Amino acid sequence: MIIVLNFGSQFAHLIARRIRDLGVRAEIFRYDVALAEIMVLRPQGIILSGGPSSVCASVHPSVPKELFELGIPVLGICYGEQLMARVLGGMVAQGTIREYGKEEVSILKRSGIFKELKAKETVWFSHGDVVTELPPDFMVTASTSAVGIAAFANLKKKLFGVQFHPEVSHTVRGNEILSQFIFEICKAPKDWSIKSVQGKILNHIKDMVKDTHVLIGVSGGVDSLVAATLLYKALGDQVHAVFVDTGMLRENEGAEVVASFEQQQFKNLDAINASSLFLSRLRGILDPEEKRKIIGHTFINVFEKHIRRTLKAHPIKFFAQGTIYPDRIESAQPSAHASKIKSHHNLSIPDAFGFSIIEPLRDLYKDEVRRLGVALGLPKELLYRHPFPGPGLGVRIVGEVTRDRIALLSRADAIFREELKTSGEYGKIWQAFAALLPIRTVGVMGDSRTYEYIIALRAVDSIDGMSADWHRMPPELLQNISKRITREVRGVNRVLYDITQKPPATIEYE
Ligand code: XMP
Repeated sequence: MIIVLNFGSQFAHLIARRIRDLGVRAEIFRYDVALAEIMVLRPQGIILSGGPSSVCASVHPSVPKELFELGIPVLGICYGEQLMARVLGGMVAQGTIREYGKEEVSILKRSGIFKELKAKETVWFSHGDVVTELPPDFMVTASTSAVGIAAFANLKKKLFGVQFHPEVSHTVRGNEILSQFIFEICKAPKDWSIKSVQGKILNHIKDMVKDTHVLIGVSGGVDSLVAATLLYKALGDQVHAVFVDTGMLRENEGAEVVASFEQQQFKNLDAINASSLFLSRLRGILDPEEKRKIIGHTFINVFEKHIRRTLKAHPIKFFAQGTIYPDRIESAQPSAHASKIKSHHNLSIPDAFGFSIIEPLRDLYKDEVRRLGVALGLPKELLYRHPFPGPGLGVRIVGEVTRDRIALLSRADAIFREELKTSGEYGKIWQAFAALLPIRTVGVMGDSRTYEYIIALRAVDSIDGMSADWHRMPPELLQNISKRITREVRGVNRVLYDITQKPPATIEYE
């Protein structure tokens, strides 16, 4: 296993994902994890991530010198590199020229982690500080025109520092650097694969649940679908899945979820159509927060009522959640230095019923969950769907939610997604959807004047939803979508494309 010590960089997850993709288990810990805890895990290597701090500041996140004396190879990246230099007796200064973006580095020593590289390589920098003096017994291994020490190493002690980021794709040979570190230097075994992970998860589920029963709430989302499928594979009819149709789902979503369970011969799925209850409670409600609260509470009410019924017939002891690795690392160990932490929308059900929680996907990244889903034979169409918020179309209809508005929006949204898929654009976008603006504007159709709603199209590029940029959509495609929506959806005579970044806007409309 390789341990990544996180100094508050968004890239810490990227480092772990790259290593897992190379076939080695990688786990992230906060930078101040106790050395004893690291030793228990017996990692083959340690990577110090980048981070927003500066080692030149009087207070900065650090690690004890002993970390470098455990006999475990260490690779420091960016902030991690500067920290390694500083802790081991070198000097770091605030750079006069800010290295930022793509740069060419000269590889001075083509050994150690640089063994496979050429004399010049393109790499990606993101930090202003530079190492100005090496710690004793280290050598410079790379430099740029502006930075004398862009990388350093002590081959004997297996300690390496790079000021640039090998984990980002702009560093062209970044994977070779990481691969050289984990396999040639750390001698880590290549034993992390979807197949091995699947086996471990199934055993873990069986060991935990034994002959009791598990309840899982499923939505149209990837995580709950894959989690339910794993549970079913491990436990068969001891698993009970509940699907609450809020009436605010994407077009055909309810039917598709039910079909995907039927295909697996999953017996205990209860699909509850609660749309009338949701809509009656939302009648006349305009405030976004109030809408979200009503949807959340109603969901819990429906769910709890169903659980009480199920409990009469089955010995349910566990409640399964589709939590994935980034959720857990962010919420359980909030890094004091991470600039932003995503809020979660967890249910309060386990507490209310005294259930133990089981999280089959807790160690996996989203792309690993998808690959696992493929290995389990689930339809790619469902696995590669864009994210969809819990409150559904409710937060995509600005103002009051009514049955007519839902019908209108879900059709426009389906047309948008259909066109994105046919044109091949869907897979290039992180999230795309239509929203309904309840303002009416004037249009013309044939000889008559119309006075109808506006549909806003939102498509964003993002890594994790915390920040986003609008997707540069081919104009012809936008034209097609607009034409189809205004022709096929009665009640809409105008289509807008949203070109706002997050921040300042959010991805959803409410
Ligand atoms: P915002 O609108 O906050 O959205 O920029 C960021 C990402 O989170 C999703 N989102 C939600 N997901 N329940 C969810 O499960 C929610 O209440 C919720 N609100 C926003 C949103 O779709 C986007 O991917």
